[in-house]
Amino acid sequence: MEIVILPSAAEVGLLAARKISQLVTRKPDAVLGLATGSSPLAIYAALAAHVRDGSLDTSRVSGFALDEYVGIPAEHPESYAAVIHREVTVPLRLDPARVQVPDGRAADVEQACERYEEAIRAAGGVDLQILGIGANGHVGFNEPTSSFASRTRIKTLTERTRADNARFFDTPDEVPTHCLTQGLGTISEARELLLVAQGPQKAAAVAAAVEGPVTSMCPASILQHHRRVTLVVDEAAAADL
Ligand code: GLP
Repeated sequence: MEIVILPSAAEVGLLAARKISQLVTRKPDAVLGLATGSSPLAIYAALAAHVRDGSLDTSRVSGFALDEYVGIPAEHPESYAAVIHREVTVPLRLDPARVQVPDGRAADVEQACERYEEAIRAAGGVDLQILGIGANGHVGFNEPTSSFASRTRIKTLTERTRADNARFFDTPDEVPTHCLTQGLGTISEARELLLVAQGPQKAAAVAAAVEGPVTSMCPASILQHHRRVTLVVDEAAAADL
């Protein structure tokens, strides 16, 4: 695992974006695993700048989101379908037909999850998966106790995660109780993982993921078993290392 500690959150985004740009330059039809949350926003902003200045061509890039809420309409501004469209597809000028998000409104959830796994396989798998980390060590929405072998499925959000994400909604009650998320088994099949974390509220989770035991109580600790992982963190998030 390569760990890069940078002085500021802004630099985390810039360095991670540079890594992704290099991949897309090398492989113009790269398949990216897309994360939501605030952590990767600086990456997307930096990539969008490369696209605008003509130094990056993303027209053949595909993207698969990690997760989606269950129970809110796709038009809701905080559905991950809407967030990915707003923060990634549009600014990075991705082809919308090449960007997929798990279908949190599907009548048959199990089938929707299987279809999603199949779509990732059909695309040839994920070249680089962008990850944030929850304060409790979750990746995607794989909360503590998630199986390392898990595939895309429905999960119940913990109260901690609902509270952490309440800032995106008008009232805490509006935060959905369930989600669809790629499993830890799905995520770990990506050829490369790039986890970014900024701020002191992530320090304990980052330390547990990197230096703690590999345990489903800290889902991000599965990174220790992956062959190609880069962790890019600011000094505050690295404070407990
Ligand atoms: C969210 C997302 C994760 C994200 C994490 C951290 O709930 N499902 O993919 O990495 O929690 O979010 P943030 O980056 O806003 O701290």
